[in-house]
Amino acid sequence: MRIVFYTGKGGVGKSTMAAAAAWQLSQRYRVLVVSLDPAHNLGDVFGVNLRGRRKRFTDNLHLEEVDLKKLTRAYLKREVTVLSETYHYLQVLNLDSYFSVLQYSPGIEEYALLTSIEKTIREDTRFDYILFDTPPTGLTLRFLALPQVTITWIERLTAIRRQILKKRFTIQKIRGTADTEAKSREIVLNYREDDDDILKRLKALHANYVELNRILQGRDCGIVLVFNPDLLSLRESERLLDGLKELKLPLRLLIQNKVTGENRPTADRTSRILREKASPGIPLQRVGLRTSLPEDATEGLYALPEDLTIHLIPTEGADV
Ligand SMILES: Nc1ncnc2c1ncn2[C@@H]1O[C@H](COP(=O)(O)OP(=O)(O)O)[C@@H](O)[C@H]1O
Ligand SMILES: [Mg+2]
Repeated sequence: MRIVFYTGKGGVGKSTMAAAAAWQLSQRYRVLVVSLDPAHNLGDVFGVNLRGRRKRFTDNLHLEEVDLKKLTRAYLKREVTVLSETYHYLQVLNLDSYFSVLQYSPGIEEYALLTSIEKTIREDTRFDYILFDTPPTGLTLRFLALPQVTITWIERLTAIRRQILKKRFTIQKIRGTADTEAKSREIVLNYREDDDDILKRLKALHANYVELNRILQGRDCGIVLVFNPDLLSLRESERLLDGLKELKLPLRLLIQNKVTGENRPTADRTSRILREKASPGIPLQRVGLRTSLPEDATEGLYALPEDLTIHLIPTEGADV
């Protein structure tokens, strides 16, 4: 299974390019397109209403628009449950009463999005390709960075937890077990790593994020950067390239969209700048600005003449 993220500034044509590539790929492969952008327009590109549900466009092509608000609430609910099960004494705090406020916590949307991506990647294995149409650059870079950020945090927290257990062990040695057993109503604090639910959870989370990061940085994953021949889209693309490089995420293709005869000199200049900034050998695909819809009005903008699959389909023994 191949996973592709379509990134770029708002309005450059991410949804259109993801849709066009999906349409072309679906002639030979099973494809799922998921829009993660709260300002969804994937459904519009295909002329279908996707509100909250996955739809089969053709046998080989399935479409979905993720409801970020719903996702965030569901994510939070799950986390609060896990939290109160792991830390029994937190029930005193009654986290439920903070629920409505917690959903606005910084970072929650990113975690919710990442969790949803992870679920799709793990569960929808019957597809050959999953294409993600991403939200604005800032949010996209943040959720793509999240596995690495989280791994760092978990490693710190694990070290702190181990220190706590060590201290408990020392206390236990001084007090002796008889004391604890006598006060049977007292909460018995574990001091062995294998008995500690929190450490177990940290270990599981760590393994999970390491695996997710391995997938995101791996050969079956790719980032496509869509941009237009204009200055603002160039600047935002440069920031995106810097971010991807720092995160060691694999850029596979640059798509310069909305090219015309008139903007061609700017198109040449902007694509040169980006290609110099990207790793050597990253291909560039140009897509012309279409000023009229195809003759056959039943086909939307997803049916583009340019081949958008050529760099996404693996050739024998080669990378994406
Ligand atoms: N090659 C193209 N020719 C003509 N119009 C295009 C082309 N690519 C995108 N558009 C139009 O540009 C607008 C933004 O495209 P969209 O795919 O929604 O961008 P994004 O998802 O990046 O916000 C839409 O109105 C879309 O129809
Ligand atoms: Mg879009």
